[in-house]
Formats: sequence, C-alpha cells, structure tokens
Amino acid sequence: MDRFPAGFLWGGAIAANQAEGAWSEDGKGPAIPDVVRGGFAAGTADPEIVSERYYPSHEAVGFYHRFREDLDLFAEMGFKCFRTSIAWSRIFPNGDDAEPNPQGLAFYDALIDELLARGIEPVITLSHYETPLHLLRAYGGWSNRSLVGFFERYARLAFERWGGKVRWWMAFNEINNAHTMPLAAAALELPADMAPAERARRIYQAAHNMFVASALAAKALREIAPAARMGAMLSLSGVYPKTCAPDDVLATMQLRRRSLFFSDVLLRGAYPGYARRIFDEFGVRLDIADGDLGLIAANTCDYLGFSYYRTTAFRAGLPIIGHTGGVLGVENPYLPKTEWGWQTDPTGFRYVCNELWDRYQKPLFVVENGLGTADAPGPDGAIDDQYRIAYLEAHLKELAEAIADGCDVVGYTWWGPIDIVSAGTGEMKKRYGFIHVDKDNDGRGTLKRTRKASFHRYKEIIATNGACL
Ligand code: BG6
Repeated sequence: MDRFPAGFLWGGAIAANQAEGAWSEDGKGPAIPDVVRGGFAAGTADPEIVSERYYPSHEAVGFYHRFREDLDLFAEMGFKCFRTSIAWSRIFPNGDDAEPNPQGLAFYDALIDELLARGIEPVITLSHYETPLHLLRAYGGWSNRSLVGFFERYARLAFERWGGKVRWWMAFNEINNAHTMPLAAAALELPADMAPAERARRIYQAAHNMFVASALAAKALREIAPAARMGAMLSLSGVYPKTCAPDDVLATMQLRRRSLFFSDVLLRGAYPGYARRIFDEFGVRLDIADGDLGLIAANTCDYLGFSYYRTTAFRAGLPIIGHTGGVLGVENPYLPKTEWGWQTDPTGFRYVCNELWDRYQKPLFVVENGLGTADAPGPDGAIDDQYRIAYLEAHLKELAEAIADGCDVVGYTWWGPIDIVSAGTGEMKKRYGFIHVDKDNDGRGTLKRTRKASFHRYKEIIATNGACL
C-alpha cells in the first residue's frame, strides 16, 4: 500500500514578512513585524521605525524581487503546493483604507500566476503575524471589534480576486499563540506588568473577534468561491505529562485545552464547556454581539492546518498560560534538543495527528514542520545538512504511520524551504531551508541561493510520493 495518498500535497511554507522584504515598496504600509526588535518571542515593538536600527523584515531574503527564481527552485524539488501569506498591509496599507493598493494586488496576481504556471497550488494565509501597524496603534489590535470589518473587507477582496485560483485558505496563522505571542498572533501590545485578569480579558476578547472574523471569511469564501476551503491554523506541537501522577496528567490536559480551545471553536462551531471555567478563573466577561454565536456555528472551518515542531513535558504546579509548543513545561529526558532548545520528537508527530483526527474528524493539513539550525557551509560552500534530512525522514515516516492509523492528512509543507528570518528570534542564523540564502544576522550577504544536501533528498521523497523513505 502507498504510504501517502495519491495527490498528496507536498510542499513548503513561508510567511510574507519573513521572506519578502520590500517592506515599504510599491505602496506597502508598515506592518507589526517591521518595528519588532529581536523577534516576536521578545515581543517588543518600537513606537516607530528607528532609522539607524536593523529590522530583519525590511529586506528579509528579498523574495519580493526574487520570487521567480525561488519558485523555479521549488518547482525543481517537485513541490505540489506552496504556502505563503498575503501581507495585509500591501493590500490595505493602513488596514482601514477604503481602497486597496493596486501595486500590492499586482504583486500577488503575479505570484499566484507564477505558481500555477509551475503546477504548484497556492496555499494562502490571510494574516500571518503581520497585521498592519496602524491597526495596532490606532485601534489597539484585535481586542477592538472594528478589526472584524476591516478583515472581512480584505478577505472578500482576496477571495473575489484569487478565490478561483486558490483552493486552500487560512484566516489566521497559529491563532492559539494569542496567549504566548499576543503581539504576533492578535496584534496586542500587553505590558509585562499587566494584571493577569486584564491580560486574559484582552486576549480572549481578541480571540472572540478573530473567531467572528474567521466565520465571516468562511461565509464569504463559500459565497464567492464554493470550491475553495477555509482552514483553521494552530500551533499544535505536543505535550506529555512529566509523570503518570494523576495531577500531572490532569494539568497536562488543562494546558492542552488552552490551545485546543481555539480549534474547538473554529472547527466545532461553539465555545467548549470547559471555556466557562477558564473565563470564570480570570473573571473574563466577553463582549459577544447578537448573532456572533450563530455565525460561528454556521461557518466552521473545513480543515485543520497546524504546525508541529517538537513536544514538551508538563506537570502540576506550573503556570498554565496556553502554549503547548515547548516554551512552557519541563525538559523531557527522552528527547534530544536543538541549539535553540527545541525538543524534537517524531513519534509525537504521529501522536498529535491521531489526537487531532480523533477530536475533529476533519482533514488535517500539516502546514509547518521543520528544523532550525545554524548551518555551516563547508570549504567548497556546500551545506551537507544530514541532520535536516534525518529530521525530515523521521517525521515523514511517522506521518505515514499516522495515515496508516486512519488519519486523513491532505498535505505536508515544510517550514522555510528556503532560509528566511526567524519569527521568534529575528535571526537569519536559525535556518530551516533546503536552500541556503547568503545573509547573516546583521543583514550582510549577497542573498545568493544555494541548494543544500536536503534539497536533493526532499526532491526524491516527493518524486516517489514518499515510497523511498
Ligand atoms: C511558527 C510560525 O510558529 O514557527 C512561523 O508560524 C515561524 O512564522 C515558525 O517562523 C518557526 O519559528 P521560528 O521562531 O524558529 O522562526
């Protein structure tokens, strides 16, 4: 039996702000990452651009100008699909503009057409950590209901223009990271000393507004492009109890629910029962408009896109904030760690796929998985990244097992098939690519692209639909 279904969507994934650069060209307005210092994990945004400061997103890896060359390399690897985001502030420079920016539209016309010309299906995220800066400064981000209307206008425009060409859509990247990276995921600037109750109120209100926006987008997509599909997208790296002590197991379930809360609402169409308990704990009273809950119930997502990088362990007594990707938690003695402290776990990938399929019974799309390392070119300039090949193969073998377990998995997009700026740390040094980009943390380099050893292996895996694994 084939390990992967016919038509399986092999590919790669990036985000506009981590790759395109050209941050202020052709009418683009500033977006939040354009003022972020040191990556979103640190989470500090400058009030305005400081002219002498280096911001990695401003040039990124120059995808805006070089995308044809990059798409050629993806086509050479045999990509069936490619996930990227539309930079919202290329289309609506301030987010609340009445009219879109024609040059922004033209860029994505070209990108989507060039993908299709190479036989690569576009997979599009509408908002990947790059809310227009003006929507943060003038409105305070997603806890302000006005953003729902601005987003709906943007989504409708995107569907009218590209809905006939793009089948796979997602509204918000890693929406559950509203807890741990509120600036990135929900355009919220929350001071470190904010009272926990107020912090929770702002985050859950933002989440509610984003649920409404996602439902309105799903509704619009079904009207405008009925053959297309709307996805939820969550960070769902896994979590295990540190021990089999019942309190540790219970605490781990509670932590996991802080993430699954988001997919429960987006895929099942209702606030889960346990949400009340979380809201009561923080004294959260949501501002829910008439009709919101019906809208959410009637316009659920068609599939679950998720990122999986690693797992963590958890125990009773640790704060439950709401991230299961490894930032919180304790070290797992059974797993290796990357240079950035991420504990890699191929078996956990199979476990998480099964967990999600059992819970939702809706198609799963692995839209991010990958290994960030500091690659060192050899004397001849070549990068023999056997560690990346090992990670890729081990994860794909477990994905095949998950499919054999009965999980409906429609595709797999490796994160950062070409080196891009790290979202968490703002570094270039943390590289995921099968393609090396000559650029360092301080912005020096020629931007030259070079195939790594993993490029050739991924190409082989795709060509055999995984049979060579
Ligand atoms: C995901 C994000 O959280 O992880 C990406 O959707 C990000 O934007 C990726 O780049 C890897 O994280 P990092 O911090 O290594 O770039």
